[in-house]
Amino acid sequence: MESPKEEARLRIAQLRQDITRHNYNYYVLSQPTISDYEFDMMLKELERLEQRWPELDDPSSPTHHVGSDLARPAPETATPDNIPRQQSLDDLWGDSADADAPVAAVQPGTPQTAFRQVVHTYPMLSLGNTYSETDLTEFDQRVAKGLQEPYRYICELKYDGLSISLHYRHGRLVTAVTRGDGQKGDDVTGNILTIPTVPRQLPAGADYPDDFEIRGEVLMPRDVFQALNEERIRQEETPFANPRNAASGSLKMLDANEVAKRKLACYLYSLVGDRLPGDTHYGNLQAAASWGFNVPLGYTQPCRNLEEVAGFIAHWHTHRQTLPFDIDGIVIKVDRLSQQQRLGMTAKTPRWAIAYKFPAERVATRLLSVSYQVGRTGAVTPVANLAPIQLSGSTVRRATLHNAGFMAQLDLHIGDMVFVEKGGEVIPKIVGTDPTQRTTAEPVGFITHCPECGTALVREEDEAIYYCPNDLGCEPQIKGKIEHFISRKAMNIDSLGEGKVALIFDNGLIHDAADLYSLTYDQLLGLEKTYTDADGKTRTVRFQDKTVRNILQGIDQSRQVPFERVLYAIGIRHVGETTARLLARRFGSMDALKKADTAALQAVDSIGDRVAGDVIAFFQSDKAKTFLQKLQAAGLQFAVAQNTAKAPVNQVLSGKTFVVSGVFTVPRDTIKELVEQYGGRCTGSVSGKTDYVLAGENMGPEKLKKAERLQIPIVSESEFRQMIGL
Ligand code: IVH
Repeated sequence: MESPKEEARLRIAQLRQDITRHNYNYYVLSQPTISDYEFDMMLKELERLEQRWPELDDPSSPTHHVGSDLARPAPETATPDNIPRQQSLDDLWGDSADADAPVAAVQPGTPQTAFRQVVHTYPMLSLGNTYSETDLTEFDQRVAKGLQEPYRYICELKYDGLSISLHYRHGRLVTAVTRGDGQKGDDVTGNILTIPTVPRQLPAGADYPDDFEIRGEVLMPRDVFQALNEERIRQEETPFANPRNAASGSLKMLDANEVAKRKLACYLYSLVGDRLPGDTHYGNLQAAASWGFNVPLGYTQPCRNLEEVAGFIAHWHTHRQTLPFDIDGIVIKVDRLSQQQRLGMTAKTPRWAIAYKFPAERVATRLLSVSYQVGRTGAVTPVANLAPIQLSGSTVRRATLHNAGFMAQLDLHIGDMVFVEKGGEVIPKIVGTDPTQRTTAEPVGFITHCPECGTALVREEDEAIYYCPNDLGCEPQIKGKIEHFISRKAMNIDSLGEGKVALIFDNGLIHDAADLYSLTYDQLLGLEKTYTDADGKTRTVRFQDKTVRNILQGIDQSRQVPFERVLYAIGIRHVGETTARLLARRFGSMDALKKADTAALQAVDSIGDRVAGDVIAFFQSDKAKTFLQKLQAAGLQFAVAQNTAKAPVNQVLSGKTFVVSGVFTVPRDTIKELVEQYGGRCTGSVSGKTDYVLAGENMGPEKLKKAERLQIPIVSESEFRQMIGL
């Protein structure tokens, strides 16, 4: 039994990891996996724990920082065919007056700092937020107590996009910078200039200051979002989860011409600078509107007291769907600037403003049936089919039920009224049922046989997940394996994707990944699929000349992919990237690996009984033998290339074993190579033999916990670089 403090320490570590990961998903990847509400609750829990145990607080905790949209590993449009570059004002205006930015060209596959980073003259702050009206009353009481004089609020919409700061000098736009980590952001001026309402030059004669910033939110209007997603689905690309993610993904694109097509909008809500024209926030907004800025005064309301604030909130809570864009709440700001100054700041949020956030929209609908999906590993996921219902602007028909354990917890019965909420994902989730409206006595039981191939399902002890064990004969597993084979870290055939693989497979042209190498132009040209989209419209996609050439070129280029990635791509159970690399280096070739016995395999770091057994079983299976023969005949790398082993630089890390986990400023593989070049070794899992855990952003919480339990030093990337003197 752990002491309360130890328990708090573990929980804090877990929450910090999770919050950092969710911040990364939200700000960098634009792909949140949980709802704002869930995120806010985690943050609040962490704040509470840090207040309760101040000695466990840490200045680097996410409670003291705003989330960051910096440090993206792979911006959307960075492809080899499209050498991306950030447009500077130079390109746009043809002079160099203010274009002091070196334009960073991006080499595909290298770490991306495609946008110049700019330090904010005034930090970009976050807002304290609440979901409760009681908290608003407390906020108002704090303001009243702090000021001891009359005051009024300005209520604004809380635009659900991403914040931007526009810097004007002598009436001319100098830079447009994202919030980044609050202290510095990305210079996205070229992209912002694609938004028609953002003025490049303010009208002569207007009384704007010589130097000021105006801040606001970049959004994607709902109708644009809808059209974009329809197009993405047509192109077999993953649709964006919501307009915010779409806006954020678009603003981070590296080709301004592409950004222009995304039709972003920008609403401005705050003037920042030393010499502002008015002494109130509202006065400054009115002035900015008169200089030609898109200030949404029509959605902005002065309020004399909390009742008026509540009225504004209630109005927009019920009318938010009438707006052309998404909002996630209301922002309440003290109007007078001198009063704002007197109230001041906490570590990261002002005391003069607060955001009231609308609760996640929840609707009730009927559970019609449960269907089951089989993934690449054979894991079976239950999915609820629902009576169609409107939720946050889209029609919901399905909701994920995750696994048998989650389904059992919900105690679902067919015909139940269930409550559905939308989190960060495209697929909404069921958060509860109403047992009083139940029509059937029998709960939904989990299926016993694979819905795809009929094989009896298996479940390992203490696991919530059922698997179909027929890995080589079950269609979705085969398709999944091909998708794994072509994925970025494996053979990296990015001219193919899930939809294209399915089309080729469904036409009987491939039966496994090795068949990709015998596809011909004539076989692929004209392949087509007709499907019905969300609106019920029938559409057809067809492989045209360019697509076919791209696909074949991508497949051909993959013949050069190094052996260690081929080993990862072939999908031996439990052989991930790290194990594949270790095996490749130890045995050097497929032939040698094939001949390795258990003892030889177990001599490799981090390979135990289970993985050794999986490797041997793989090479013994007849299907795998045929598969490998076909791959070898296709000319894939079946041995380590002679000149790829990097010469050791020195041996400062000699005898040290590292576990490298998380996201770094360079690809993780590069970090691993550095460890090896300096005499160290890398293994996949944390154990008593690990000397250091090299932790990047979003390191897995399990690894972190284990490292802490075993008291293994956890080093950051910069500490690691110091160790090797780099
Ligand atoms: S004022 C110091 N006003 O909400 C206050 N922010 O949680 C700075 N936001 O980063 C922000 N609508 O991206 C302000 N009317 C509004 C807003 C707004 C949306 C966003 C903004 C900010 C975040 C804070």
